[in-house]
Amino acid sequence: MLQKDEFISNLIEECGTWFQSEDRLNAGKMTMELYPYDHLFSPIQVNGVKIRNRLCMAPMGNLVMCDQKGRPNAKMIEYFAARAKGGVGLITSGLVHVSHKWDPSLFERDGVSYFPRIDTYHSNLMGWRDLVDQVHAYGARFFIQLSAGMGRVGSPESLISAHKFPVSASWNPNFYVSQIPCAPLRDRQLKGIISNFGQIAATAKSNKVDGVYLHGHEGYLLEQLTNPAFNRRSGGPFANYQTFGIETVKKIRRRVGPSFPIMYRIDLSLALNEAYGDRMNHVKALKKFRNGRTVAMTLDYMTNLVQAGVDMFDVDVGCYETWWLPHPPNAMPPGVFLPVARLVKDCFLQNNIKSNAGLEVPIVAVGKLGNPDLAERALREGTCDMVMLGRPLLADPERPNKAYAGRVAEICPCIGDQDGCLNELAEGGHIQCTVNPRTGLEDVIPEDLPPATSPLKIGVVGAGPAGVMCAITAAKRGHNVVLFDKNSQVGGMIIAGSRPKMKFDLANYLAYLTTIVARAADQSNLEVHLSTKVTPDLLTEYQFDTLVCATGSRPKSLPIEGIDLPHVFQATDFLHDPAVASNAASPIVIGGGSTGLEVAHMLAYEMGKTVTVVEMLPLFMKGTSNANRNYMLYYLERAGVHLLNCTRVTRIEVDHVVVKQNVSPTVPNPYVTWKVLLPDYVINPLERRLQVKEQEKHLPCDLVVIATGVQSDDSLYDACLKTQIAPKVYNIGDSFAVGRIFEATKGGFALGRSL
Ligand SMILES: Cc1cc2nc3c(=O)[nH]c(=O)nc-3n(C[C@H](O)[C@H](O)[C@H](O)COP(=O)(O)O)c2cc1C
Repeated sequence: MLQKDEFISNLIEECGTWFQSEDRLNAGKMTMELYPYDHLFSPIQVNGVKIRNRLCMAPMGNLVMCDQKGRPNAKMIEYFAARAKGGVGLITSGLVHVSHKWDPSLFERDGVSYFPRIDTYHSNLMGWRDLVDQVHAYGARFFIQLSAGMGRVGSPESLISAHKFPVSASWNPNFYVSQIPCAPLRDRQLKGIISNFGQIAATAKSNKVDGVYLHGHEGYLLEQLTNPAFNRRSGGPFANYQTFGIETVKKIRRRVGPSFPIMYRIDLSLALNEAYGDRMNHVKALKKFRNGRTVAMTLDYMTNLVQAGVDMFDVDVGCYETWWLPHPPNAMPPGVFLPVARLVKDCFLQNNIKSNAGLEVPIVAVGKLGNPDLAERALREGTCDMVMLGRPLLADPERPNKAYAGRVAEICPCIGDQDGCLNELAEGGHIQCTVNPRTGLEDVIPEDLPPATSPLKIGVVGAGPAGVMCAITAAKRGHNVVLFDKNSQVGGMIIAGSRPKMKFDLANYLAYLTTIVARAADQSNLEVHLSTKVTPDLLTEYQFDTLVCATGSRPKSLPIEGIDLPHVFQATDFLHDPAVASNAASPIVIGGGSTGLEVAHMLAYEMGKTVTVVEMLPLFMKGTSNANRNYMLYYLERAGVHLLNCTRVTRIEVDHVVVKQNVSPTVPNPYVTWKVLLPDYVINPLERRLQVKEQEKHLPCDLVVIATGVQSDDSLYDACLKTQIAPKVYNIGDSFAVGRIFEATKGGFALGRSL
């Protein structure tokens, strides 16, 4: 019998339907009804350390923000300094392992690590000291996040590179390649890790760090040892799931003394049984994890951790197999884990749980808390004691200062696509941000824009993210810029893209783009012409010194019979005018990329349709962050949306679509959300080869939405180049190469900065 927590089941249900409530949607808007933010900007005492306000920067892995020996480099220092300067009270680092001795997954070849390190080389300490000095210079505090290792969620490459099995608490399947087992660490090794925790905490304290923060959530090695889902040891000192964590905290406390803050990050539940139900009994990759910590067990463990010496917690939900929970994508609700913080706070209040310093144990809320009103309300209502911001601080490091000064409309919102941050890490890069092209590049792009030495007359055609970013940046530098767009508002493809209710983050970004364009038009040399069809003749009249084409894309033509029938619509047309689907009962979406699935989601959840999505390739929504992808697949399955992969459309008829479907048993199950896709350059030799056995099928439908992708619309650029319309002509954004908002803002900013 599977044990399920009703609280967690409700949370999962809520994450799929929340946007049906107007109140919840409004809570995600960037408003400032509660300004001035007295609670957000009041100090808090955590054991011996006073923090200037209630805003804490979430840990976000600083992979490759260090040299190859792990010493924090200028990139990491400038990145954190920018956030400290932006006004946040407490900064936490991304995960830093207390030792590289026990977990072979932490290394690349030749002893190179992509993680910053504090566990070896005294010369590395200088990097940490420089970093903390910079953070302190701006009045912020710095906690280092300490990790036991990756364990089963680390790369299994060590099997080939070092002939070593990855490790875990018990025999557990590796997350990425479940055929590879992870070997249990021995008791002696675990005692070694505990001792490393103590040593590294003491090292951190001696090197100016203000506190340590244990990485006990999301199924990393510390949680593998402290959750019976993963720790199924039958004997020895660490068979009890609480022992390793409690001994670790006691050890740290002994080494750092009574007043040094110890913070602990924990998930209330892995949410596996609640998310997957009966699949926990049948799916090989999940089966072993049926007996995870329940909510009550987590609360008991937390109480004991406080007794052992923990001063503060932040709490979320989920693990790698439910990845959209700890890494909530765009479609997850604003303030998603506030009820979790509330539950823990209530428990601590009722049981009068105090830290060893005799203080209340602050509970930090995390997860999509970028709207200052939402954060302030949570503090005022006593839901939490601090508010943690991860991606919102990537999008805008000045967010705290702007909120304090009542400049909320100027805050650049996070759009939750996770292309610049999480996906960059997954693909081998360092943290960046889709909507902030400076993030992670603070060391090479100075904050101040270089003033234009001789102001130019610049034309920018297309007010999508690339065009807007370019126009605003160039205008701020002193150039005279004219921005044109055929639409009556700025935003380009974002206008249609932000249409589904669950894309509220993107709607916030659209509002932000509108605000910054209007502001720039008021304050600088930016002239804006909307609803304007731009032709080479019009541009000739302006006599621009430089012309920038950012004219976006147009749908790819799909050469199939029936494409011109009246019940066939392009995805963008549907998104601009969803009423075209009002009378349809069972639409078919052709194309299973993110646009296709967002359309399917909107049809199913907002319009109550019975939806089928047809995709030629084996995988849906490939190329998107795995957290976003798995959210979408999970909730489409819950809504009964039929996902047909390896299926090609051969003809569209009035009342059905003719397809050829590969029905071979080797076709992957499209609804698998407990695994992630590896980047294309990583080959899993154990993966099943796809075989082809096609069958023709007729799928009844009364509406067809085409979402098979777009192609660059560079006709204006070609024409302008040919007629030498200006001494310099550039082509950026989708009209250069179809990409994501990430590439568009990067291109626009780089060009605007350098003209
Ligand atoms: C790029 C990225 C890296 C992350 N790395 C870590 C990490 O090293 N340690 C950790 O505990 N959480 C990590 N997280 C999770 C965040 O700390 C945070 O819980 C999550 O982003 C939700 O908060 P937000 O909505 O404010 O971004 C990471 C998140 C992102 C986006």
